[in-house]
Amino acid sequence: MLPVIVPVQADAMASVAHLTFPTFVGAFSKEAWADAPAVPLRVVAYRRGTPVGLALALHRKDYGQGELLSLAVDRAFRRQGIGVAILREVEGHLRAAHIAQISARFSDRLPESSAFGATVASAGWNGPVPERIRIMGRVGNTLEVFRDREKLLKRALRDGLMLVPWRNFPHDAKSHILRTIAEGRAPGWSSAGLFSDNFDPDFSMVLTTGADTIVGWVICHFHAGVRRWSFPVGWIAKEYQRRGWLLVAYAEGARRLGEQFGSDSIAVLESTMGLPMMWRVLEDRFAPYAQVADRILSVDKKL
Ligand SMILES: CC(C)(COP(=O)(O)OP(=O)(O)OC[C@H]1O[C@@H](n2cnc3c(N)ncnc32)[C@H](O)[C@@H]1OP(=O)(O)O)[C@@H](O)C(=O)NCCC(=O)NCCS
Repeated sequence: MLPVIVPVQADAMASVAHLTFPTFVGAFSKEAWADAPAVPLRVVAYRRGTPVGLALALHRKDYGQGELLSLAVDRAFRRQGIGVAILREVEGHLRAAHIAQISARFSDRLPESSAFGATVASAGWNGPVPERIRIMGRVGNTLEVFRDREKLLKRALRDGLMLVPWRNFPHDAKSHILRTIAEGRAPGWSSAGLFSDNFDPDFSMVLTTGADTIVGWVICHFHAGVRRWSFPVGWIAKEYQRRGWLLVAYAEGARRLGEQFGSDSIAVLESTMGLPMMWRVLEDRFAPYAQVADRILSVDKKL
């Protein structure tokens, strides 16, 4: 018997909570998305009235983009075509809302990452392509692994680099970053997390070569629940990329964290494919010693 696959309202979330993560249950239980104009879409597969599959997605008309945040089918009902059927339903709704593309991101350490990749591939999606690398470990460990840190730091400081904690920077760095991106001098991803509630003004840093010359930035988030500092974005202007300044900034962030909160503090360093040298350093030098290292893969489909 074919399942019935339909979009549902926010109040149905309690009945499908077992098919997604608790944070999504909370966020999708509200009728409108907190960060409007993003629009939430919830699609449920029912077999004889029982929910057996769920997809959660968001779309923004102004960008013409949709994002699949969660897809799951009850274990007992897998490999019956339900996952792909739910995806088709999601795609149909987005197409009707004039959304031109849908994408999703997932960790290669997700227990079912290969099943998810195979499912979206069978629905005609592209990818997966590696988008970000994440390295998690003790800050003390970062410093032990990064043996030439002192030498690189000394050279960078001699060449004029200043690493100013966000809180101490005298100008409005956030506006500067948005302007730099709008003028096409930095990529769009380099502002990710800038306005997050978790933004940490002490360990986020502005990279400058003088009072008014911002050449890069490192965004740090503090996750109080797990007591972890993550560095989701670091960016530096092209002309400085080869000097290792961004790496120096990460190392200095780790050192400052260790100094203030102890060498057992946990940091998560990330880089994107947009900075291939940084990616290679994290992959080759840090990943082998990390507590956890994973890659965020992305998949997408033109609708
Ligand atoms: C990923 C998931 C939703 C797939 O649901 P599903 O209903 O089993 O998928 P389908 O039956 O529609 O699969 C369609 C095709 O995808 C591929 N596929 C799906 N699961 C696969 C697996 N475990 N291994 C290999 N191929 C797989 C196959 O080509 C399959 O066609 P086939 O069965 O005719 O060979 C399901 O495995 C799941 O819920 N996993 C746990 C949750 C999760 O990790 N979600 C992803 C991140 S949010």
